[in-house]
Amino acid sequence: MGGMNGIESCCGATAIIVAGLVSLLLINGATSLKNLKIIAPERVRVGDSALLTCSYDLEDAQLYTIKWYFEDEEFFRYVPKKDPPHVTFPVRSIQVNVSGSNAQDVTLLGLRRDHSGRYKCEVSEDQPRYDTKLQEADVLVVDVPELEPRIAVDKQRLADGDTLRANCTSGASRPAANITWNVNGKPLNGSRMKFSVSSHVMQIISDDRQRSRSILRLDTSNLFRDNRIHLRCFAEISPVYKGSASLEIIQDGPSVASPHSHREYTKNR
Ligand SMILES: *[C@@H]1O[C@H](CO)[C@@H](O)[C@H](O)[C@H]1NC(C)=O
Ligand SMILES: *[C@@H]1O[C@H](CO)[C@@H](O)[C@H](O)[C@H]1NC(C)=O
Ligand SMILES: *[C@@H]1O[C@H](CO)[C@@H](O)[C@H](O)[C@H]1NC(C)=O
Ligand SMILES: *[C@@H]1O[C@H](CO)[C@@H](O)[C@H](O)[C@H]1NC(C)=O
Repeated sequence: MGGMNGIESCCGATAIIVAGLVSLLLINGATSLKNLKIIAPERVRVGDSALLTCSYDLEDAQLYTIKWYFEDEEFFRYVPKKDPPHVTFPVRSIQVNVSGSNAQDVTLLGLRRDHSGRYKCEVSEDQPRYDTKLQEADVLVVDVPELEPRIAVDKQRLADGDTLRANCTSGASRPAANITWNVNGKPLNGSRMKFSVSSHVMQIISDDRQRSRSILRLDTSNLFRDNRIHLRCFAEISPVYKGSASLEIIQDGPSVASPHSHREYTKNR
């Protein structure tokens, strides 16, 4: 007690400032609704379901309601005091799995490409404060390629030191896939190989999907292993799709005409 008195007598001005700050905080609506965060997958495949989570900290307050919006239209509401606690609203045929949804989560089923867009959760605490906060996240519903990528080469038999020309073309998707190359199982690496890569995106005429093509030119010097170069390309829409194709380039003497190229496709998922 003596110590407290000491502080009071020596720091009266500080105490007044502290009291002033506290009342300022109260006027600004000191809130028990804190740390509101939305967790949603950035990309989902067409037809898949998605779990959207809104996490928050209510301290000693109660939840009044959590509302979910797609592009500013409410499609799901959860009110713990009601029975049943959940209400769904028809918004662009969004399907909610009600048994997979609660005071934090909403599970969407059978996503369509027109369900790409901005999702929001709005959390309101109960009386007396009814404080309300909102968070948002973008979800892209991805049309993955139906076809695996393909590698095409002008010549499959080359001499050491010849330039390999290869194209890798992905199946149509939205958004366009990213294409990368592996040579003998390793990514292209400028400190060990001489190469150039150019990337192109080709619009599909009939819809809004796109194909990607990557054109590789690679100096084959010192790259043959057991008379082979193993070439692979990956088409990726991270994290929902990865496909690949591979091809063996065969070492040959100079100026040997190429047979038809052999192709091999590999499905990763
Ligand atoms: C809905 O969610 C429940 C609980 O998580 C789950 O058991 C059920 O399989 C889901 N239904 C569909 C159609 O996914
Ligand atoms: C690779 O693509 C380019 C540009 O589209 C084309 O001119 C070339 O013929 C293609 N090469 C092969 C081997 O398909
Ligand atoms: C490229 O190759 C060099 C030499 O082998 C290696 O040190 C480096 O880590 C490689 N870089 C990448 C990105 O793989
Ligand atoms: C392609 O790669 C870039 C850079 O890593 C990344 O930002 C982008 O999201 C990727 N696109 C796809 C479709 O995966």
